[in-house]
Amino acid sequence: MYLLTPYKITYDTQKYPFKKIVSEMMEFKKLEYLHLLQHYDLLVREKDQSTIWHKRYYEKFKTDFLPTYLELVKELKERFGYDEIIYQTIPTFRVQLAEGNLGVGEWHKDRTYNHRTTEVNFWMPFVNTNQSNTIWMESKEDKGDYRAYEVKYGDILVFSGANLYHGNKPNESNETRVSVDFRLVDPNKFIPNEAGSINMKVKFDIGGYFEKI
Ligand SMILES: [Fe+2]
Repeated sequence: MYLLTPYKITYDTQKYPFKKIVSEMMEFKKLEYLHLLQHYDLLVREKDQSTIWHKRYYEKFKTDFLPTYLELVKELKERFGYDEIIYQTIPTFRVQLAEGNLGVGEWHKDRTYNHRTTEVNFWMPFVNTNQSNTIWMESKEDKGDYRAYEVKYGDILVFSGANLYHGNKPNESNETRVSVDFRLVDPNKFIPNEAGSINMKVKFDIGGYFEKI
């Protein structure tokens, strides 16, 4: 699971039909066109979790998203050869609206936000992303060679978000990007943190931001 440079894995979208699930949660068929429903001015750090679509996702998370997510986590645990794995309880929802908006308001390393360097990030879009609406990242810590990682629906980008600078550029394409990202941690490398998540307002520990399966 731990590699220095970002890489992609695939999953079965028949078995884990997240696009359909998320479309139903949003009450809108074409996730690429969510920006047509409601306009938002440029979302800054404090506002990038505040759209009506975030509200719909977090309200329906337990009933609509969680069961399939747990199945995927179990599969990943087996694929990476762990008996137990620690996973992010609620994947973070992101929307990067077309018409020049951002999905995350700031370029950063996750460790600036109290994340441990042993956490591994999984970035999973529900649309086919393009250069303009996807995540940008350096390939090695502080190398500064930023590039767009285009990820298709059915693929997951795996990377070390605590160590690599990442962010996004204004989405100048005509398609909105909808994604979630979550973290998996090897239980042997897990270090709880009394400090917590600024978005979720829970501690970085099992029973809070994380669970073990
Ligand atoms: Fe991040």
